[in-house]
Amino acid sequence: MMFQPTLLLTSALIFPGGIGAQNIAIIGGGISGSFASKYLVSYDVNCSIDSISIFEAMPATRSANVTIAPSDDWQGSRVSSVRLRDGSVVELGASIGYEGFHLILDMIRGDSSIKLGKPYNIGTSEVDKRIRDGLGIFNGHGEWNLLTSREFKIISKLKLLWRYNYDLVKLSKFCRQALKKFADVPSLLASLEPNTFFASPDALWDALGLKKAVHSSFDDLLDALALPSEVPWYKRYIPYQGSLRSELLTAINLVNYNQDNSQVNGIVGLGSFAATTGSLFSVEGGNHKIIQSATNQAISISLQQCDGKAQVQQVPKRVSTVVGGSATSFSLFSGQEKLGNFDIVVIAAPLQQAQIEFMVQSNFDKAVLQPMPLTELVDPDLRETKDGHAALPTRLPDSAFRPYTQVVTTVLANATISEEHFNLSQEQLPRSVYTTSKGKASLHNITAITQLSSKGLYKIFSNDRLDGKVLMNLFGPHHVVEYVKFWGGASGGATPDYRGRGSSVDFLLYDGAIGFDGNTVSGALYYPNAMEQSSLACMEISAIGAMAVAKLIARRLRLIMETQTKERNRDEL
Ligand SMILES: Cc1cc2nc3c(=O)[nH]c(=O)nc-3n(C[C@H](O)[C@H](O)[C@H](O)COP(=O)(O)OP(=O)(O)OC[C@H]3O[C@@H](n4cnc5c(N)ncnc54)[C@H](O)[C@@H]3O)c2cc1C
Ligand SMILES: *[C@@H]1O[C@H](CO)[C@@H](O)[C@H](O)[C@H]1NC(C)=O
Ligand SMILES: *[C@@H]1O[C@H](CO)[C@@H](O)[C@H](O)[C@H]1NC(C)=O
Ligand SMILES: *[C@@H]1O[C@H](CO)[C@@H](O)[C@H](O)[C@H]1NC(C)=O
Ligand SMILES: *[C@@H]1O[C@H](CO)[C@@H](O)[C@H](O)[C@H]1NC(C)=O
Ligand SMILES: *[C@@H]1O[C@H](CO)[C@@H](O)[C@H](O)[C@H]1NC(C)=O
Repeated sequence: MMFQPTLLLTSALIFPGGIGAQNIAIIGGGISGSFASKYLVSYDVNCSIDSISIFEAMPATRSANVTIAPSDDWQGSRVSSVRLRDGSVVELGASIGYEGFHLILDMIRGDSSIKLGKPYNIGTSEVDKRIRDGLGIFNGHGEWNLLTSREFKIISKLKLLWRYNYDLVKLSKFCRQALKKFADVPSLLASLEPNTFFASPDALWDALGLKKAVHSSFDDLLDALALPSEVPWYKRYIPYQGSLRSELLTAINLVNYNQDNSQVNGIVGLGSFAATTGSLFSVEGGNHKIIQSATNQAISISLQQCDGKAQVQQVPKRVSTVVGGSATSFSLFSGQEKLGNFDIVVIAAPLQQAQIEFMVQSNFDKAVLQPMPLTELVDPDLRETKDGHAALPTRLPDSAFRPYTQVVTTVLANATISEEHFNLSQEQLPRSVYTTSKGKASLHNITAITQLSSKGLYKIFSNDRLDGKVLMNLFGPHHVVEYVKFWGGASGGATPDYRGRGSSVDFLLYDGAIGFDGNTVSGALYYPNAMEQSSLACMEISAIGAMAVAKLIARRLRLIMETQTKERNRDEL
C-alpha cells in the first residue's frame, strides 16, 4: 500500500490539468444516459476523457413501426412512441413535459430542430376542431366527481375552486413554495461550492429543504396540511362539494404512477399536483427526439473540443456482465462478447431492469469471480477489507431490487366511447378520463383514457392487458387495436414502487479503487437512477440524476475543482 501515494503524485505531475486518459461507459441510452453524455462532454473542455461509450440494448432513435409488435422480453426507453399508418405519432411512455422541467427545456433550447407542441399532440399540423376538451374524474357506476369539459378555462377554475375551496388554496400555496425550491436545482448543480457535490439524492433534497416530503407518504403530507379525505359534515349541505384528496389528487397519482396517495411519497404527490397548475408540453413527432438531441449535442460538442476525434460513441449492445478488475477498471461483456475496458461506468437504467451481473475478480485468484458488493461507499479508513473489498458492505436497501409498477398502454383507433357505460352523451364526455380508486376498480383497472383525435383515436393506461370483450363494451364494436405496449416484466416497469416513501442510495454504487484519501480516480460505478427511486420519476428527474453524476465524475477526473465562495442558507419546507 505504501507505493500508492507516490503513484498518484506522479500521475498528478504528468497530467497537470486532468488525470489523463479515461474511458467511460454509459449503460443505457434513455434520458439519463443521453443527458449524462452531454453533461460529461460539457465539463471536458480540453478533451481529456479518452472515450465515452453509450451502450443501449434497444436504441429508440425513431417511433416504433405500428405493424411490428413490441418485444416482450426487453422494455427499452420509457420515452418512446409509435407511428400509425396515417403518419400520426402517439407517445407510449412519457408524454407530458411541465414548464418546471428546467434541464429538459434547456436541452430542447439547444436544438432548433425540436418543436414544442401541445400535450397529447400527434405530430400532425392540422388543427382538430372537433377534439374534446377538459378533464373528468370517474368514480365508477355512472358517477362523475368532476367534469370540466366544454367550459371556458376560467369557469373550470372557478368550478375547481368552488368544489375544493380552501384545500385547493392551501395545497397550491404549499406547492408553489416547493416549486420555488425545486427551481434552485439547476443553479445548485452548476455551482462549484463544496456542498453542492451531492453524494446522494437525499443530500440534494436536503439542500433544497424538501427532504421531509421525500421521506413521507403523500397521505402523511396531506395529513400534516390537514386536508380531509372526505367532505366534512359542515359542508355536506352546500351543493357540489368534494374532497380534493380522494378525487383529483388520487386520480393524478393513479394516472402518473398507478399508485394512490398512500403508496406514493410526498414529493411525487406534489409533482403530480404541480403539473395540474402549470403549462405542459410535448415534442412534436415524439419526445424521443429529446434523447436523440442530447446524444447529438454531446457528439457535436465533443467533435469540436476534440478536433474531430470520435470521443462519444453509441454502441447498440445490451450489457450483460460488468466485471470489476482487482485494480481499477471494469470489463464489460454482452454475453460472451467483450465490449471493452472502462475506468468509469455509469449505469443509466434502473438496476432492477438492467439485468446485469456485477462481478469482481478475487484478489487471490483472478480467475475467480465473486458478486460485486454494490454498497454505499464507506470511509476507506473505517472499513475492514477482505479480499480487497469491504468485509461488511452496507447492503443496498430493498427498494433497490423491488420491481417497478406495471402499466399497459393501449392505442385504439376508430373507437366510440360508450355513452352508456360512462353515463354521458358524446357532447358531455371530457377529453381525458381519470379515475378515483373506486372508479379504477370498477373500470378494469384503467387509470386514464385520453382522446387523441376526433376520428376515434384513444390512448388508455391500465394495470393489465385489456381483453377484447372489455374493449368492445367500452369502445364499441368498430374499435381497432393499433398498438399495445407493456411496461413491466422482468426487465421493465414504469415507475418505482415507492411504498409510501422515497429511498436513497448514493450515486456512487461501487468504488474499486482503494487509494489514499479515498481520493482515487478509476474504478467507479455511478447510478443516476438513484434519483427516481428517492423521489419522483419523470424526464426532468432523470436529467437531474444525470447532471449530478456527471458533476461527481468531473470532480473525480479533476475537470472541475470545488471552490468555496459563500455560505448558502436554506430552510426546510
Ligand atoms: C407509461 C409511462 C408514462 C410516463 N409518463 C411520463 C410523463 O408524462 N412525463 C414524464 O416526465 N415522465 C413520464 N414517465 C417517466 C419517464 O418516462 C421516465 O422517468 C424516464 O424516461 C426515465 O428515463 P431513464 O433514462 O432514467 O430510464 P429508461 O427510460 O428506463 O432508460 C433506460 C435505458 O437503458 C437501456 N438499458 C437497460 N439495461 C441495459 C443494459 N443492460 N444494456 C444496455 N442498455 C440497457 C434500456 O433499453 C433503456 O433504453 C412515464 C413512464 C411511463 C412508463
Ligand atoms: C413498417 O413495417 C412494414 C412491414 O415490415 C414495412 O412494410 C413498412 O415500410 C414499415 N414502415 C416504416 C415507416 O418503416
Ligand atoms: C347518471 O348521471 C346522472 C346525472 O347526470 C345521475 O343523476 C344518475 O344517477 C347517473 N346514473 C347512474 C347510474 O349513476
Ligand atoms: C385490479 O387490480 C387489483 C389489484 O392488482 C386486482 O386484485 C383486481 O382483480 C383487478 N381487477 C380487474 C378487473 O382486473
Ligand atoms: C370504423 O367505424 C365505422 C363506424 O363507426 C365503421 O363503419 C368502419 O367500418 C370502421 N372502420 C374500420 C377500419 O374498422
Ligand atoms: C484546459 O486547458 C487550459 C489551457 O491549457 C487550462 O488553463 C485549463 O485549466 C484546462 N481546463 C481543464 C478543465 O483542465
